[in-house]
Amino acid sequence: MLDKTAGHNRPGFNGPGYDYDYLIQDDRVHQSIYTDPAIFTAEMTHIFGAVWVYLAHESQIPKNDDFITTKLGLRPIIVLRDSDGVIRALYNRCTHRGTTLCRLEKGSAHIFRCPYHGWTFNNTGKLRNVPWPDGYASDFKDSKFNVAQVPRVESYRGFIFGTLNMDAPSLDDYLGPVKGPIDEWLDRHPGGKIAYCEANRLMYRGNWKLAYDNSCDGYHVVFSHRSLLDMENRLVNEADKGMSFYKGRPDSAPMYMKYFGHGHHFKDKRPNMEIKPGAMWAIEGPHPGMEHYEAELRRRFSARADEALDLAASEPVNINVFPNLSILGNHIQVIEPLNHYETNTIWYGTAVVDDEGVWGDALPLINALRMRTQEGFPNFGEVDDLANFEEIQRGLAAFEDEWVYMHRGMDIPGRISGDADGVITAPATDEMFMREYIKEWKRLMQTEPNIQIKREP
Ligand code: FES
Ligand SMILES: [Fe+2]
Repeated sequence: MLDKTAGHNRPGFNGPGYDYDYLIQDDRVHQSIYTDPAIFTAEMTHIFGAVWVYLAHESQIPKNDDFITTKLGLRPIIVLRDSDGVIRALYNRCTHRGTTLCRLEKGSAHIFRCPYHGWTFNNTGKLRNVPWPDGYASDFKDSKFNVAQVPRVESYRGFIFGTLNMDAPSLDDYLGPVKGPIDEWLDRHPGGKIAYCEANRLMYRGNWKLAYDNSCDGYHVVFSHRSLLDMENRLVNEADKGMSFYKGRPDSAPMYMKYFGHGHHFKDKRPNMEIKPGAMWAIEGPHPGMEHYEAELRRRFSARADEALDLAASEPVNINVFPNLSILGNHIQVIEPLNHYETNTIWYGTAVVDDEGVWGDALPLINALRMRTQEGFPNFGEVDDLANFEEIQRGLAAFEDEWVYMHRGMDIPGRISGDADGVITAPATDEMFMREYIKEWKRLMQTEPNIQIKREP
């Protein structure tokens, strides 16, 4: 049968704008949302310009004057703690001719001097001076010469977000029930906090949403990550390590996924474990070098060793905060769109912070072991995913074949349940989370954000 909607006269593309009701349907989405540069450009306003975007973690800028450079969509940003300790997100853009002010990944600075003509700015964004001011007929008192900044910057338990949209809800309301899993994830650590380690950056040639589509996908695991599963099981000669709970019949395993609204979702694999100290460590996959640290922690702590080992083990959760933050095991993954077909994924390991000194001089041992457990997935698992994202992007170049399906779990009575506060629960291999977040994407693409910037007076 011929598909008459294929080709350039398809209904979603008539007239001046895009018909998002056509492009996003209940069970499928149009390939152009991944391949069309004009849709990508619109996303930088309607998605990344409209919602609370994850920017940085407070542990990356622990002291006054510390900064890191990042992006808000495509906008280059310096996230910093100014000399008075205020966390700000400055546009990394000189007000003279637009040059980026800072080209370092991170550092400490109370002023930024533009490399082009030497204008200098305080780390509040205020212009401090310009070389040879006599050459200007006017002075520089006007606030328009102060660096632009993101008008709303807030943290949730160390995670720093910013939004340009004055109509966005509070960060607290934006996060809503996804705060529950974030709290649980943090609260298993001493003092309820973690610190970021260095970044591992992986670029792929595919649209940014392919990574977000995958962040809760339990359907692909045994196929995409077969080599990782085989290796984990072969090395320990037991069939229940690492991600093995996806084998067999994953939908009848006790794990599940939830959709929380505002595009956020969560996959909880913890119900696969027993509830007891050492349970998380018991399912940890094998990692070269772990034996030494485990033996040392068992020798030093005997009864409490299981607790220490659980701190080193990856927590089996995927917590995804739309549009660009995922907490995966003990990792943080940040999705950074570059253009419609290229994306960076930035992976940060996390370390235990022990301000109270509960673990004494064993803390470096716990963290060294925790680093071992965080090496496996980015090296052996993420590469499988990135290869698939690139191959999806290649496949979608066959653009007359227009639709991408996400209907797994749909219309099956009793499979998906919703509760009164709008949280939706489904089995771990469903595509429910994709259908729900992409509905929110559609709503945002059809809504005009109230984008503003601010400057120091
Ligand atoms: S562009 Fe920055 S001083 Fe000229
Ligand atoms: Fe994966």
